Amino acid sequence: MRKRLIVSAAAGALALLLSVPASAAQAGPGAAGIGDPYFPYAGNGGYDVSHYDIRLKYQPATDELEGTTTILATATQDLTRFNLDFVLQVKEVLVNGRPARFATSGEQELEITPARTIARGSAVTVVVRYADKPGEVERGGYSAWIRTPDGGVVANEPEGAAWWYPSNDHPTDKATFDVSVLVPNGTQAISNGTLTTSQRPGWTRYNYRQAKPQATYLATLAVGKFDIRQDTTPGGLPVITAYSPDLGVNAGAARASVERTGELTDWLSGVFGPYPFDSVGGYVPNVPTGYALETQNQIFYSPAQFARGSNTSVVVHELAHQWFGDSVSVQRWSEIWLNEGFARYSQWLWSEHENEGTGQELADFIYDLYPAGDPFWTVRPGDPGADRLFAGAVYDRGAIAIQALRNTVGDEKLFAILKGWQSERKYGNATIQQFQAYAERVSGKPLGELFNTWLYTPGKPAAGTSGIGGAPAVAASASAPAGSAGLAPGGAPGARPEPKSWKKIQETNTVHEHEHGQR
Ligand code: TRP
Ligand code: ZN
Repeated sequence: MRKRLIVSAAAGALALLLSVPASAAQAGPGAAGIGDPYFPYAGNGGYDVSHYDIRLKYQPATDELEGTTTILATATQDLTRFNLDFVLQVKEVLVNGRPARFATSGEQELEITPARTIARGSAVTVVVRYADKPGEVERGGYSAWIRTPDGGVVANEPEGAAWWYPSNDHPTDKATFDVSVLVPNGTQAISNGTLTTSQRPGWTRYNYRQAKPQATYLATLAVGKFDIRQDTTPGGLPVITAYSPDLGVNAGAARASVERTGELTDWLSGVFGPYPFDSVGGYVPNVPTGYALETQNQIFYSPAQFARGSNTSVVVHELAHQWFGDSVSVQRWSEIWLNEGFARYSQWLWSEHENEGTGQELADFIYDLYPAGDPFWTVRPGDPGADRLFAGAVYDRGAIAIQALRNTVGDEKLFAILKGWQSERKYGNATIQQFQAYAERVSGKPLGELFNTWLYTPGKPAAGTSGIGGAPAVAASASAPAGSAGLAPGGAPGARPEPKSWKKIQETNTVHEHEHGQR
């Protein structure tokens, strides 16, 4: 499901009609990648998926996963062959009800040759049957399937889907999902969206429905022992939360944070506009990882996020992604600032709301923290490179860029931009350039230099640029703790005090940086 503005879709169709008469199009294989410069083999060409129906059976004791995934798609060219992204062992493929030949190539390509050529514009139904032990399947020494003592979890970015279902694995091909998981009684399953269950002797089936468009990496699966809670917000939005009974000393802090999901969703709705999906929630499995991920509706949290106590900041970050990342998704992975810059800035807004430091104070503090020669300033948040997608600067310098925008257009326009952008791009994909154009339209100001300086130019901008890093105003600071002399941890006299929220916000990624060795 590729949602574009109606105007541009019509213009695109017109351009196509003018340049290539449909009858002259050559039938051939679909491309092995969708055309993302950072990840040439991510996604595939030649078709557009509208729905995934994923039926699974999983045995936690042995890690045996059996699956049948049915994909509804439309061919975008005459197709003699097409690829799906998948790494598990395939038993059988049917295309429009007929057995199809299949082969594997590269890291994750499943090449499917249908019995008949598929005409451009026609509907295609693909059934893939498979069975494997996903925890044992590695690519480049790595498995996205995390084994736990009582099951397994997939939550990964930019790619994780290939370890549990075949797909067109790129954020530009969004689709609706039904995920149905059969597990032995006493085991539970978590996925995205609304939940119903059914029983048969010895087994329970968990049916999750995602009725809104969802990018493939935002689909998550967890099987294991979970305490699942279902509730509704005061506004009537279903809330599903789930906790491994195995969280040990982190159990209380995890619940004290994730149980605030409904309240924090309501607060963010005030900032970004209506919550875009049919349910909201989060789950905390017993995984050894450190990160959290904005899996759609049903957020994945590692217990390590709650190791130092409750953490509403990480919940705000992941919930903010439901708007910035999930509803409005990147057009290609180089546009990651549209996700992480805004999710981080939401943590700053929450800090502001909680009187733990304003956006301006956090921006100035970070500006001072890294001297001009620090590698922090070498990353361009607007185009960081495939290996620095989640570098600290994408988040922190990325959020400074939003504070710089706020300083330039004022509060009223900034919040109008955030809300308007969300309603204009809902369930679609976007680029930073489009965001800049939108912000210029709403504010009536040229913003090219601002975006260039903060997102695309390596090096530390001069103090005072866009109102960031000007002379410290220690006396005026609202966040200096009583009795503090306004000294930074380094103790430099006259330096800005550390905002109270800073450590907690930073912890969202220090856990993360350790794992990926990125700054
Ligand atoms: N998008 C996640 C966040 O900021 C971070 C993240 C990056 C991640 N890569 C990941 C999480 C891989 C899980 C797996 O919240
Ligand atoms: Zn994030």
